[in-house]
Amino acid sequence: MKGSRLKEKRESSTSDRVPPAFSVRPMTAADLEAVTAIESENPSPWTAGQLASERDQDGGWQFVAESGASGRVCGFVCGRSCAGEAELLKIAVGRQYRRQGIAVQLVAHALCCMAAQGVGRCFLELRAANTPALALYERFGFRRVGRRKNYYTSPLEDAILMEKTVVSAYLGAVTK
Ligand SMILES: CC(C)(COP(=O)(O)OP(=O)(O)OC[C@H]1O[C@@H](n2cnc3c(N)ncnc32)[C@H](O)[C@@H]1OP(=O)(O)O)[C@@H](O)C(=O)NCCC(=O)NCCS
Repeated sequence: MKGSRLKEKRESSTSDRVPPAFSVRPMTAADLEAVTAIESENPSPWTAGQLASERDQDGGWQFVAESGASGRVCGFVCGRSCAGEAELLKIAVGRQYRRQGIAVQLVAHALCCMAAQGVGRCFLELRAANTPALALYERFGFRRVGRRKNYYTSPLEDAILMEKTVVSAYLGAVTK
């Protein structure tokens, strides 16, 4: 009996020290190499220069998700806010890290940041056949508001435009 209580105590103190699977924080210049590598896995990737220049944009925001176990950057999101509106420009998660809820955390952080900036509406566009991203955005309440025929090249594809109202309830929804 005494021994099993001790075991329980040891187990709970060990689990208290287990690092989170991943966390979200602002992107730094040191993250650019890892972010560029993740971005390069996707169609129409931005170059390292394009990603770097986003960090200098007025109203720009960029976050990375970092693995708690390895400290590696496993995903990122970036966008810009101006005059009460925002555009979510890019989100990507490294292939080996997908389907673990990382994109959900990144979008939640982005929405929290927008709410803090007083943004009322967020826009984005994506490839029409990108069903994972469509499902992700619809899960957050983004709705389809337009379509641009043959907007993307390599491969040629329509763009879907989406929009969402940003509410102040997002403030404080995430801890970092
Ligand atoms: C879209 C993307 C960012 C999702 O990242 P992720 O970390 O795997 O997503 P999550 O694990 O947080 O999943 C969140 C929700 O998105 C949807 N989703 C994600 N991947 C999906 C897939 N392969 N098929 C269907 N729905 C998917 C689901 O609704 C999922 O919720 P669920 O797991 O409860 O079903 C990732 O697939 C990616 O980096 N794709 C390439 C880049 C890209 O297309 N970016 C968007 C356009 S800029």
